[in-house]
Amino acid sequence: MHFSALTLLAFACGNVVATPTPRSATLPLPARTIFQLNNNTDPNSWFENIALRRNGDLLVTMLQPYASVYSIHQPLSGSPRSSIISIANATGLTGIVETSPDVFTVLAGNYSALATPVPQTMAVWEIDLRGLKPTTRLVTKMPEAGLLNGAAAIPTSSSPAILVTDNGINRVWRVDVKTGKYETAAEVPEMKSVPNATLPLGVNGLKIRNGYMYFSNSNLASIYRLAIDKNGIAVQGAKAELVAKYDTDNIDDFAIDEKGNFWAATNFNNTVAVAKPGSTGFVVAGKSTELTVAGDTALAFGGRTATDKNIVYVTTGGALARPVNGTITEPAKVVAIDRTGFA
Ligand SMILES: *[C@@H]1O[C@H](CO)[C@@H](O)[C@H](O)[C@H]1NC(C)=O
Ligand SMILES: *[C@@H]1O[C@H](CO)[C@@H](O)[C@H](O)[C@H]1NC(C)=O
Ligand SMILES: *[C@@H]1O[C@H](CO)[C@@H](O)[C@H](O)[C@H]1NC(C)=O
Ligand SMILES: *[C@@H]1O[C@H](CO)[C@@H](O)[C@H](O)[C@H]1NC(C)=O
Ligand SMILES: *[C@@H]1O[C@H](CO)[C@@H](O)[C@H](O)[C@H]1NC(C)=O
Ligand SMILES: *[C@@H]1O[C@H](CO)[C@@H](O)[C@H](O)[C@H]1NC(C)=O
Repeated sequence: MHFSALTLLAFACGNVVATPTPRSATLPLPARTIFQLNNNTDPNSWFENIALRRNGDLLVTMLQPYASVYSIHQPLSGSPRSSIISIANATGLTGIVETSPDVFTVLAGNYSALATPVPQTMAVWEIDLRGLKPTTRLVTKMPEAGLLNGAAAIPTSSSPAILVTDNGINRVWRVDVKTGKYETAAEVPEMKSVPNATLPLGVNGLKIRNGYMYFSNSNLASIYRLAIDKNGIAVQGAKAELVAKYDTDNIDDFAIDEKGNFWAATNFNNTVAVAKPGSTGFVVAGKSTELTVAGDTALAFGGRTATDKNIVYVTTGGALARPVNGTITEPAKVVAIDRTGFA
């Protein structure tokens, strides 16, 4: 069913569906762990999302056990220093995005178990890193939300605003980060979870490019796009189009490179896979039986400094959702993949 839709889109785009692994890429791409938590101090830890600062530092959100943002300084230095920014009244954090220079928005909530939110606890917070010490501010509570997950800034919005995926109720919200006002931006069938899936998760990661929101549907292991207006609201009557599909039973967040390729964290499958627009993804790092990027949750491209311009940072949840080989988990970590060899 998805393949016929995929074929149609690929056809419309003038592309060929079957995309062989690029000849110039030496796969798997080199990957190394640059930061990992200690299981004694942070057991059952899960990193969920990542954003880069202008100075190249990483901001990594923790979904459990605490609502912490790990600020990782000079991530490629060998033994990077880290500090923690805590968000109040929450037990876990998900999406993080820069909304103005060195000001970030982060999604928070209370969870009773992994990916199990406590109703009426979702909120949007701002972290301001412009001063000597980070400050935090509640943007708004969102009691109607189910599970706020991915976030992207709306570049064309007249006031600073973000789109936020909600995979509790299969919807995308628009949140004005200045006033805290929020409204529904999109709600289409392709955002729905598969009811009988092991972990029902629909719309998850989200990015905005050239008048479209791109979103992953975890259970469908697919990425779709939907036309939006300049304020981020879905164009009336717009239909979601399939742009990428992965040969696995789940994907998490994704990132889009300068050529428009979709790099997805497959989480349950312990790989990073890349799909060219209108095609099926191929694995570029990790393996289902390996810990290399086990339980990977999100990716971010380097390039804010000269030293990391070919790096893709990957966060992991330690394979807690689906242990490697059925039993093996590890503390949350950040992996740097060198994509120099990827053409
Ligand atoms: C991490 O700590 C938890 C709680 O103490 C324990 O159940 C788990 O087996 C530990 N995992 C590893 C990989 O050591
Ligand atoms: C945390 O929640 C309590 C109870 O709802 C409230 O009184 C307090 O102001 C909240 N704190 C922050 C920093 O939002
Ligand atoms: C989240 O749970 C903590 C207790 O663990 C509580 O203090 C806090 O008020 C809760 N937050 C919300 C938004 O209800
Ligand atoms: C869910 O139900 C559909 C329809 O009955 C079936 O085709 C599919 O295999 C089921 N999937 C899972 C994960 O059980
Ligand atoms: C998922 O893992 C299976 C089994 O190792 C592998 O054949 C498949 O290519 C993987 N797919 C992705 C997208 O990681
Ligand atoms: C999982 O099992 C495979 C096959 O036995 C083995 O090669 C691999 O090393 C195991 N993975 C881990 C992380 O131990």
